[in-house]
Amino acid sequence: MRKVCVVGGSGKLGRHLIQHCLERGYDVVAVCRPQSVGKLADLADRITVVPGRTDDRAVIAQAVAGCDGVLTVLVPWGVHDYSSGTAQAVLDHAEPGARLVFSCGWHITRGDGDHYTRRFRAMVWAAKVVARAVRFADIDDQVRACDRIFASDTAWTVVRGSSLEEGPSEGLPVWSRHVGDPVLASDLTRRTDFALFMVAALTDDTLVREAPAIVGCRTESALRHAQG
Ligand SMILES: NC(=O)c1ccc[n+]([C@@H]2O[C@H](COP(=O)([O-])OP(=O)(O)OC[C@H]3O[C@@H](n4cnc5c(N)ncnc54)[C@H](OP(=O)(O)O)[C@@H]3O)[C@@H](O)[C@H]2O)c1
Repeated sequence: MRKVCVVGGSGKLGRHLIQHCLERGYDVVAVCRPQSVGKLADLADRITVVPGRTDDRAVIAQAVAGCDGVLTVLVPWGVHDYSSGTAQAVLDHAEPGARLVFSCGWHITRGDGDHYTRRFRAMVWAAKVVARAVRFADIDDQVRACDRIFASDTAWTVVRGSSLEEGPSEGLPVWSRHVGDPVLASDLTRRTDFALFMVAALTDDTLVREAPAIVGCRTESALRHAQG
């Protein structure tokens, strides 16, 4: 891994992704909306910033050229297929063989063994209805984006984040193939460690075409699991 593109680099998760990449000595190209370029001003001499919407195919084509890995913050803002447009642009324009790692939440499922509580389902349903009604976000679009990724024959990984909190790193999160596994019960990960997991996935071939659901390695459920 020499050169990595961070799609959505100016947000909270994106900043952590850039930081972890720089710490590993990778060259970083970051895509962010033109109005957010200033948020990356402190890193301007260390990274290349490509201003533009992440669903703009020309912007993505320019940004991912020559990159061995692409880290994409997949967000469902608005009601015009921002998420699926972003995912498709990355899938279509990334270099052949590049490692592609996407972020999302536990609500994304491949339909093969995830178990959700009633409370979780109700919360996702309510968020979906309200966000769509006020045209703030379209959570189903993030679902469609991930369906496209799952159907792709690229070297993808979809990292499914638990609830997030700020704070210093606790280490690499633990993961499971299935939401509902006891190891995930604490439902909490430090945002910096979500990013750490995504960056580590770039060089972890065991995660190719996997959709790991993650949780903080110091959480109660992770520690209980580690004790057997
Ligand atoms: N938040 C959680 O609790 C949580 C839990 C599990 C998983 N996740 C996943 O983590 C990832 C990051 O989520 P986050 O909540 O932590 O957000 P975040 O890191 O702050 O990222 C938000 C991103 O959305 C962009 N954005 C904001 N408003 C936009 C708009 N109107 N149109 C287009 N782009 C816009 C931001 O770009 P600008 O800098 O240009 O504004 C930024 O790149 C997502 O994939 C999410 O599904 C989050």
